[in-house]
Amino acid sequence: MSIIEQTNLHIMPTYGRNDVVIVDGHGATCHSADGKTYIDFGSGIGTTSLGYCNDAWADAVCAQVRKVQHTSNLFYHQPQAELAEKLCNMSGYAKLFFGNSGAEANECAIKVARKYSFDKYGKGRYNIITLVNSFHGRTITTLSATGQDVFHNYFFPFTEGFRYVKANDIADLHDKLDDTVCAIMIEYVQGEGGVMALDQAFVNEIRKLCNEKDILMIADEVQTGVGRTGKLFAGEHYGCKADIVTLAKGLAGGLPIGVCLANEACADVLGKGAHGSTFGGNPVVCAGAVKVLETLETPGMLENIQRKSQYLREKISALDTVQEVSGLGFMIGILPKDQTAAKVQETCLQNGLLVLTAKDRVRLLPPLTITEEELTKGAEILCNALKNNA
Ligand SMILES: Cc1ncc(COP(=O)(O)O)c(C=O)c1O
Repeated sequence: MSIIEQTNLHIMPTYGRNDVVIVDGHGATCHSADGKTYIDFGSGIGTTSLGYCNDAWADAVCAQVRKVQHTSNLFYHQPQAELAEKLCNMSGYAKLFFGNSGAEANECAIKVARKYSFDKYGKGRYNIITLVNSFHGRTITTLSATGQDVFHNYFFPFTEGFRYVKANDIADLHDKLDDTVCAIMIEYVQGEGGVMALDQAFVNEIRKLCNEKDILMIADEVQTGVGRTGKLFAGEHYGCKADIVTLAKGLAGGLPIGVCLANEACADVLGKGAHGSTFGGNPVVCAGAVKVLETLETPGMLENIQRKSQYLREKISALDTVQEVSGLGFMIGILPKDQTAAKVQETCLQNGLLVLTAKDRVRLLPPLTITEEELTKGAEILCNALKNNA
C-alpha cells in the first residue's frame, strides 16, 4: 500500500492534502518520495522557521534527546528555564506559560484574562472581543473565539462569551464594548483570514480603550510572531505592546510549542493548579526554540527578513496579473487577477514550488533563513504561475 493510501485509510479525513509525500529537506528545499525537488514557500504553515533540518537546530535537538527527552512539570530542567528567560528578556514580558500549540496558547490567554477580571471585579465580566475573520484555533473555546461563522457549526454548544467586531471598524468596537468585557484579542495580521493587516488607528484605539477600562489586550502572534514579519513581534510595527501575547508555529522551528506571555499585571493570575500541560515546555522542544531565538538574535537577521520579503513583494507587485499584495514582512498575501489562488497553487506545485492559500489569496510564509538562490528560484516559479504562463 502506498503512503498516501495508508494515510487516507487510517487518518480521519480532516485535511485537504496535496498528493506529495515529503521525505527529506534542507533549508527551504525538500524532496518528495517520487524524486521531485520543491522550494517551500509555506514552511509547514509558518512553522519550520529555520527551514528543514537547520544544522545548529538539529544538533541542539538531537543532543537534548540523548540527555533528557522529557520530565514532567513537577520537576525543573535547564532548556525550559533557559527558553523562558530568553523569551522574557527578548520580549519584555514578565512571565509565561508553556503549552504545545497555538490553540493551547490562546486557551491559556483566555483563562488568564477571565481570571484576572474575576479576581479584581467578580463574576460577570467575562466577555472577550475578537475580530470578524480572525482565527484562533480548533478547540471548542478557540473556535468560539474565531470570528468566522463557518467554524461555528456542528459542535454545539460552543463556549459562551465572545463578541466579534469588524476589523478596523472603530464604531463597531465601541458598540460591542461594555462593562462585561474583560479582554480584546486580535491578530495584527489576520493570517488564515486572508493575510490582512490591521490599521494603525484601530490598534491605537484598542490599546487606548484597554488602558482606560482595565481590559486586557491579547495579541495572538501565533503566526505573526518570532520574526515572521521582520520584527520579533508584529506589534512592534504598530508601536503597540499587548498585555498578553501568544506564540506557537515558528517558535521551536517545527516542534510543537505554544506560549502565553503575560505582563507584570497578569503574570501571577494563574496560580498552582489553575492550569497545566503534560508536554508543555518539553526539554527537546525548548532546546529547539532556544536555537530559533539565538538565530533571530544574530546581527542583521531581522533586517535580512525585511529585505528579502521586500524583494519578493516588489517582484509580485510588478505583475499586472496581480490585483493586490497584502500582509507584513514574510507573511505575504497575493490576490491574483484572472485566476483563483488554488489554480496558482496547483501550477506552482507542478513546477516545484510549495505555496499556501488563505481565502481568495495565495499565501507565502517562507522560511526566515531562505537563501537568495532559493528565493530567486522560487520567485521565478511563482511569478510565472501568476502570469499564467508557467
Ligand atoms: C493566528 C493563529 N492563532 C492560532 C492558531 C492555531 O494554532 P494551532 O494550529 O497550533 O493550534 C493559528 C493556526 O493557524 C493561527 O494562525
